[in-house]
Amino acid sequence: MRKKVSIVGAGNVGATCAHWIAAKELADIVLVDLVEGVPQGKALDLLEAMPIEKRDVKVVGSNDYSATANSDIVIITAGIPRKPGMSRDDLLQTNYKIMSDVVGKVVAASPNSILIIVSNPLDAMAQAAFKQAKFPRERVIGMAGVLDSARYRTFIAEELNVSVENVSAFVLGGHGDTMVPLPRYSTVSGVPITEFMSKETIDAIVQRTRDGGAEIVKHLKTGSAYYAPSAATVEMVEAILKDKKKILPCAAYLQGEYGIDGLCVGVLCKLGARGIEQVIELKLNEEETAGLKKSAAAVKELCAVIGI
Ligand code: NAI
Ligand code: 2OP
Repeated sequence: MRKKVSIVGAGNVGATCAHWIAAKELADIVLVDLVEGVPQGKALDLLEAMPIEKRDVKVVGSNDYSATANSDIVIITAGIPRKPGMSRDDLLQTNYKIMSDVVGKVVAASPNSILIIVSNPLDAMAQAAFKQAKFPRERVIGMAGVLDSARYRTFIAEELNVSVENVSAFVLGGHGDTMVPLPRYSTVSGVPITEFMSKETIDAIVQRTRDGGAEIVKHLKTGSAYYAPSAATVEMVEAILKDKKKILPCAAYLQGEYGIDGLCVGVLCKLGARGIEQVIELKLNEEETAGLKKSAAAVKELCAVIGI
């Protein structure tokens, strides 16, 4: 039997997740949204592309969570996106209300599913979902690190005029201005980037990565990024559905790792059929540890505002 992935929020990120999942023939898809007609129309449109793309997947749209019953994975993208001048944190109260509404319904329909949270502010929303779902931490995963790391890798590859496939690099911490790109662990074909670039160039790339979301918002004016965010989400979906044991940066509920307890923050995780199968604790130096602690403090502050 085919796997089933439901996506709540049939907007830019949600619908583009559906597109990538169908293109990769990973699972049957259910799109759910509050707005009548939008998930139905987008689902049918995508389904009608399948004979052209030669992919056998079902795509269904609904306003009703019964259609999502017994999903293997549920991606939650419901919420409002940023507009120019807004930070991700400005979305906190509105998206917390939406998240609370959505998670209850998702869990009732698919009690054994793995949740991938995308709505912003990401780490606080992952924490909200984790607390409400009452799933083990393995089954509530926030998407941000894969996106931030992809931006970081894009800028490194562009600067050095090398294939993106040669660049291995990742970002830890919260999905915000305090995120922690790690140049010490960033390599081009195994060679540290410090061999190829000056400190000033690396610092500029790190800053552009931190501002990566805002850079797109400034161009688009009416919303935020969705191609790279949805590709990042689907990399996580694929790792889980294919039990790949793939190490990716994800927001996970930490229980003492890195000295952080009871908080969702971005760290390296091994993703497989059970969701987060391992949280990987790296030996960070003093500066990196301070960066991660500062980032976790910013997430904690947001969580405190909504009392979670
Ligand atoms: P969008 O506005 O295109 O889509 C959001 C959809 O959610 C809309 O179709 C809306 O009708 C729906 N929605 C709102 N309340 C709902 C509810 N209670 N139940 C079901 N559906 C509901 O926004 P977009 O661009 O798709 O972004 C979605 C969220 O993802 C935003 O919060 C955005 O900030 C976040 N995001 C997070 C990223 C990350 O790295 N974690 C990257 C990109 C976006
Ligand atoms: C981004 O980084 C909006 O959080 C989203 O593009």
